[in-house]
Amino acid sequence: MDTRKLGFFTLLLCVSTTLVNAEDPYHFFEWKVTYGTMSPLGVPQQVILINDKFPGPVINCTSNNNILVNVFNNLDEPLLLTWNGVQHRKNSWVDGTPGTMCPIQPGTNFTYKFQVKDQIGTYYYFPTTAMHRAAGGIGILQVHSRPLIPVPFDNPADEFAVVLGDWFNKGHKSLKNILDGGKSIGRADGVHINGKSAQVGAAVEPSWTFEAGKIYRFRFCNAGMRTSVNFRFQAHDMKLVEVEGSHIMQNDYMSMDLHVGQCLSVLVAADQPPKDYYLVVSSRFTKQIHSTVAIIRYAGSNIPASHELPPPPVENVPGVAWSINQFRTFKWNLTASAARPNPQGSYHYGQINITRTIKLINSRNYIDGKLRFAFNGVSHIDRPTPLKLSEYFGLADKEFKYNTIPDEPPDDVGKNIQLAPNVLNATYRNFVEIIFENRENTIQSYHLDGYSFFAVAIEPGKWSPEKRKNYNLEDAVSRHNVPVFPGCWAAVMTTLDNAGMWSLRSEMWERFYLGQQLYISVLSPERSLRDEQNLPETQLLCGIVSNLPRPAPYV
Ligand SMILES: *[C@@H]1O[C@H](CO)[C@@H](O)[C@H](O)[C@H]1NC(C)=O
Ligand SMILES: *[C@@H]1O[C@H](CO)[C@@H](O)[C@H](O)[C@H]1NC(C)=O
Ligand SMILES: *[C@@H]1O[C@H](CO)[C@@H](O)[C@H](O)[C@H]1NC(C)=O
Ligand SMILES: *[C@@H]1O[C@H](CO)[C@@H](O)[C@H](O)[C@H]1NC(C)=O
Ligand SMILES: *[C@@H]1O[C@H](CO)[C@@H](O)[C@H](O)[C@H]1NC(C)=O
Repeated sequence: MDTRKLGFFTLLLCVSTTLVNAEDPYHFFEWKVTYGTMSPLGVPQQVILINDKFPGPVINCTSNNNILVNVFNNLDEPLLLTWNGVQHRKNSWVDGTPGTMCPIQPGTNFTYKFQVKDQIGTYYYFPTTAMHRAAGGIGILQVHSRPLIPVPFDNPADEFAVVLGDWFNKGHKSLKNILDGGKSIGRADGVHINGKSAQVGAAVEPSWTFEAGKIYRFRFCNAGMRTSVNFRFQAHDMKLVEVEGSHIMQNDYMSMDLHVGQCLSVLVAADQPPKDYYLVVSSRFTKQIHSTVAIIRYAGSNIPASHELPPPPVENVPGVAWSINQFRTFKWNLTASAARPNPQGSYHYGQINITRTIKLINSRNYIDGKLRFAFNGVSHIDRPTPLKLSEYFGLADKEFKYNTIPDEPPDDVGKNIQLAPNVLNATYRNFVEIIFENRENTIQSYHLDGYSFFAVAIEPGKWSPEKRKNYNLEDAVSRHNVPVFPGCWAAVMTTLDNAGMWSLRSEMWERFYLGQQLYISVLSPERSLRDEQNLPETQLLCGIVSNLPRPAPYV
């Protein structure tokens, strides 16, 4: 079923349910995932398409809508898609990570069903299996505010979804072979904008059209493999209005850094003389700077864009100072009404007592000559049975140990790395502080599924408890990703009120693939429907739970 039919179905459901209860609308999607050929960097190569496209279809919805995506896996390998930043309240069953779901086998289909509960904002989906992310299967998921809830800016004339990122000319299987062989995939070959790249002066079709005098919303996600990017428009400032689901205090920026896994929205006013203008995207913190452009055309004009491009940020401290300063300008708009992802009270998150501090130090090392990445010395390996399922079926003790890593790592952490399923056992509703301390000389980017967290601080050096006095306890942005700059630490806080098995991971995909990830198991002691949805009847089962009778459902 295609989206044109959606209106009809949504209408039908609304009409048929309004008398009973005001059920939230449904959106149905049918996605065919296939290989195809595209040239993101100008070289034809195999990519992963959804309904013949990369980027895949935009999921455009409103808070609390129900989303059903029937995914047909026509690849030659098992596939899972995750919905980065969608919280799946009480429903980690559909989170799409290898620790929560059995993959969709080639030649079969599976329907994801979830609700975008109490969320607004810009997110993206991507494959978590193998190195598929390197080849595509990626797209934007955008959640609008409900009609009666005011948004702190005027309705834009149109909105444009933009997937950005680095790209490798090697295919996903070659990249996986390199990693399986214990080596790094190295640097990317270039950057793309919505699956295309072009250099200044090249004859390319405009990607977007502006009408003079109007305002447009661009939603950007960096869905790349490892590279931070900076983007900027010729002659147009951007007003940053949303970061990963939070309306923020609006500021104007000439250029914006976007680290791997991050999303944000900017407004751009079509207030310049009518002609073509470039959007420029360039890599950050790389020895060789890759850049690409796309064209915005003012309707009715035929004047080509100037070849003079806006410059990338000027660094006065090598690498990162500019980017840290920009991060610190992001403040939550406390008076903007919006669907609040977190429960009541977390608004005043600064007054909640911390019940647990989890400090994570990332490291990179070799085991038997093979490259691995770790948190606190443990490099995660997936089990053939998803952790969530073995836990739910009462077989966790056969499959993995909880809390292999200490909350407080020893000082020589990372000298040695061990391989193990890395699962933290968390107490339901604890208010936790997670510290990421990056002693490596490259930027990191970390993401937590199932939650948004308050990103309260980023500072150089090592973390210690007295650093808490520097936290932003007033208006830190509630988001799902935090960058951790070289030699810096970052602190985030959240209430673990969403029962489930949730991936905490590096968004840099070779690090993820080689173990820099863990799962937080948030078990509600009640095993009750109040706290967690039931295992969906359609859930795929695999590994040791394949043929087991399903446990009694929650009540
Ligand atoms: C996306 O959804 C919003 C809110 O329902 C709607 O106003 C807008 O027209 C939709 N955009 C597209 C491209 O369908
Ligand atoms: C597979 O697709 C068919 C046809 O749309 C649908 O009826 C069926 O429910 C889907 N199966 C799963 C497991 O989602
Ligand atoms: C914050 O939100 C309020 C309420 O919607 C809005 O009026 C105000 O302009 C916003 N402030 C900034 C700086 O974005
Ligand atoms: C937080 O801890 C302090 C000191 O231990 C205590 O006085 C206060 O009541 C606690 N606050 C809350 C909200 O639990
Ligand atoms: C994990 O937490 C649950 C609930 O808080 C508790 O019952 C269980 O004993 C814990 N398991 C381990 C291994 O810590």
